[in-house]
Amino acid sequence: MDKKNKIIIANWKMELGFKESLALALEMKNMFSGFSKGGVVICPDFISLSEVGKELTGSIIKLGAQDVFWEEKGAYTGEVSSSELEEVGCEYVIIGHSERRGYLKEDYSLINKELKNLLKESKLIPILCIGEKKESRESGKVEEVLSEQLRQALEGVSIKDDSQIIVAYEPLWAIGSGLVIKPEDMNEVNKIIVQSLSNIFNNKIAENNFLRIYGGSVNSGNVKDFAQIEGLDGLLVGGASLNSDEFYKMADKILI
Ligand code: PGA
Repeated sequence: MDKKNKIIIANWKMELGFKESLALALEMKNMFSGFSKGGVVICPDFISLSEVGKELTGSIIKLGAQDVFWEEKGAYTGEVSSSELEEVGCEYVIIGHSERRGYLKEDYSLINKELKNLLKESKLIPILCIGEKKESRESGKVEEVLSEQLRQALEGVSIKDDSQIIVAYEPLWAIGSGLVIKPEDMNEVNKIIVQSLSNIFNNKIAENNFLRIYGGSVNSGNVKDFAQIEGLDGLLVGGASLNSDEFYKMADKILI
């Protein structure tokens, strides 16, 4: 994995309609046309993926999806496979976002199946979301929660030399709340993630096959604090990615 290039990922959630997604994608494509730093990804909803993918042809912006199922074909009403995502041009996919863990009761055994299938059947780069609730942080259980989430998500997952996984640390109390993690706490979380990955696999895999990014209330005003955090490979942005100016400013600050 190219560690020189940091990454910024826009998660548009279910905030935009189909036409709005296309319009914003076009706006961003134009805005980023002279941009020479890599690592920009946008994740529209399923309905918009195919057309946004076409719109982004020739752009440095890459396409990502917000979820994927763990089988490739069959009687799975409402689901979408990794091969379909690749067919419409996706290169990334978010899995286990906290909103899906909360509203749809997705758990890490399910996320584990998604991850195993993704790495076996596709070239999609998974963006694996982890993060603790406010109570866990207040009661000093951050390490326990994050290491257990990673253990369950990655159990039995085989990592090839060229496998790439992005771990997105998104504390639940920071998503959409205006609250962000303090740099010193992010350093602590980075250490927990590296240690957990080393325990599950080994130091080499933890270093070479994983990127670590942060998500939760990042905007153009606070992005500079994240640009300085050593060992942080990028950002996953929700609300502030719905505005092309904001998103451009963030990309410009975080990417090197
Ligand atoms: P936010 O969302 O930037 O609006 O807090 C981040 C996310 O949920 O990925």
